[in-house]
Amino acid sequence: MTIPTVSYKKFGEQTVPTVATVGTKRWIVLYIMVSAILLTTLACWNNLANGSLLEVFQDDSDAPPPHTEYAKMARYLVHKAEWVSMGSLSTVAAIQGFPMVNIISVADSARDEKSTGVLYFYLTMLDYTAQDLHKDNRLTVMLTLDQNKYCTDNGIDPMEPTCARIMISGRADKIEEGTDEFKFGQTAMFSRHPAAKKWVETDGHNFFLCKLNITQIAVLDFYGGPHYVTVEDYMAADPDKTVNNNADGERQIPARFSTTTEAY
Ligand SMILES: *[C@@H]1O[C@H](CO)[C@@H](O)[C@H](O)[C@H]1NC(C)=O
Repeated sequence: MTIPTVSYKKFGEQTVPTVATVGTKRWIVLYIMVSAILLTTLACWNNLANGSLLEVFQDDSDAPPPHTEYAKMARYLVHKAEWVSMGSLSTVAAIQGFPMVNIISVADSARDEKSTGVLYFYLTMLDYTAQDLHKDNRLTVMLTLDQNKYCTDNGIDPMEPTCARIMISGRADKIEEGTDEFKFGQTAMFSRHPAAKKWVETDGHNFFLCKLNITQIAVLDFYGGPHYVTVEDYMAADPDKTVNNNADGERQIPARFSTTTEAY
């Protein structure tokens, strides 16, 4: 959606009062009345058409794939995600064995690069999630279409099945430094998370790079319960292509935040 340009008056700018003649005033009143009638008509028409008229003005190049394309939906959510909700089995004494959750920053590619579908993330043993995964590396991550307020903005409650979400279960695998995959994952993380560079550089925090080795992918994007996507179908799906698979229809996943490498 393009944001209309609005020219604001500069602070302190003098407005020169102009006295309109009676004839001009009549034209202004008529103009306002006609505009009001036109706008009311458009609003009613749009309501009758279920809001589809205004959709014409919306940019849908970043719209999610159809809900029946489960593998693509999963890849779409993964590629767009800057973070996931990650569940682990707690090792904290009072809730030993309970499911526990955390927010973990992720990247499946560098900003503006092609999707890989593999989630890379940093962990530190100072954090309970890494401690949990150190004991038992089984985890589940949840990603929702509402992470960038898509559902909220479209009036869909995030718990409605039509607000797509995926639950990926698997294991956290540490990636050895010096490997090509390490380089790839680190570049992806630094690109999307400038803050991650600081985490890694901070003495004593010992952040280490991991990836999610997938066991199961559950896609819940419509009524009727989740659909399970095989890892093969998931890896083969390409969210960078537009829904009708036009060869020239490369999908650009826009920046969510932090496009600069400035430290903060
Ligand atoms: C996931 O883990 C399994 C078992 O350890 C391993 O054989 C496989 O290569 C891993 N997959 C990826 C994509 O790393």
